[in-house]
Amino acid sequence: MKDKLKNIVNEFLGELRATKKEADVFNVKAKYLGKKSDLFSLIAELKTMSNEQKKEFGSILNGIKNDMEEKINRRLEELNNEDNITFDDTLPIDKTLGSLHPVTIVAKEVTDILKSMGFIIMDGFEMESDYYNFEALNMPKNHPARDMQDTYYLDNDMLLRTHTSPNQVRAMETYGAPLRICAPGRCFRNEDLDHSHENTFFQLEGMIIDENVSIGNLIYVMEGLLKAVFKQEVSVRLRPGFFPFTEPSFELDCSCLICGGKGCPTCKGSGWVELCPCGMVHPKVLEMGHIDTKKYNGFAFGLGLTRLAMMKHKIDDIRVLNSGDIRKISEFNIE
Ligand code: FA5
Repeated sequence: MKDKLKNIVNEFLGELRATKKEADVFNVKAKYLGKKSDLFSLIAELKTMSNEQKKEFGSILNGIKNDMEEKINRRLEELNNEDNITFDDTLPIDKTLGSLHPVTIVAKEVTDILKSMGFIIMDGFEMESDYYNFEALNMPKNHPARDMQDTYYLDNDMLLRTHTSPNQVRAMETYGAPLRICAPGRCFRNEDLDHSHENTFFQLEGMIIDENVSIGNLIYVMEGLLKAVFKQEVSVRLRPGFFPFTEPSFELDCSCLICGGKGCPTCKGSGWVELCPCGMVHPKVLEMGHIDTKKYNGFAFGLGLTRLAMMKHKIDDIRVLNSGDIRKISEFNIE
């Protein structure tokens, strides 16, 4: 009987080790511990044995049975843990590295340049109040200039900011004068989308408040900034513009680098791309920021970071940048 038991146990261990799924284990259990198993027949035979034999073989058979049950439960646990592994490390791994988004790269370049000119970087809020987005910027309710910047109004009386300009008044309130700040960030507009207009895009606000700031200072900073960003000669033009929060106001355009100034859908055939409106901060806005207008004045600009990334990397359709299509974005080969 001892030899027979030895064979049973060896066979059992071999088959249990070969199991690959729960069902296999239950089959082994039925085969070696079920009513038709050899072990079950041997246990049944105990009845016919003397008391002494019953004692001896009873405890051996019981020990084997308990041991088999324990091994079955352990194997079930092992298989259960293997099932929970969520990846297969034998599969080939895609080692392609991603890169920063073109707009993130351009934002970093611009803020680095501005930092070297003494600007500090501040963070604004994507969800803004009507006050900071419009009113404090000299655009009271029903002002026609609000039409140019329609946005998404939220249930909590807030809105998604249409530009980074709310940071002008927030900066003056926080830091007072003199100050030099830049504030990059995401903006939102309810726009008709085309090659150069998105509903979600990035701007960078810049502002200097100091004594005797002139338009000459404004042009000098703008020129220095764009030269450093493009690292090449780029034609820019300054033309009169209108913003309720700057007076005088200008539009700074750069020649379209997609078509070389010939005219294309990105520049709407004009050869120029509107990039960075700017102007001298309106006295009413300085007052909103509690600045002493007899002593201080300043200038501000709102650089279109997404458009700048398009020009730098020759991206002819702005919609690619928010598409999340890695095949398209990786075409720019940005390190
Ligand atoms: C403004 O938003 C003003 N806040 C800028 C400003 C700041 C003026 C400080 C004076 C002083 P504008 O609406 O033109 O202006 O937008 C500024 C730039 O943001 C544009 O030149 C363009 O580069 C970019 N921009 C505007 N709308 C979109 C859009 N829908 N998609 C992509 N870029 C846009």
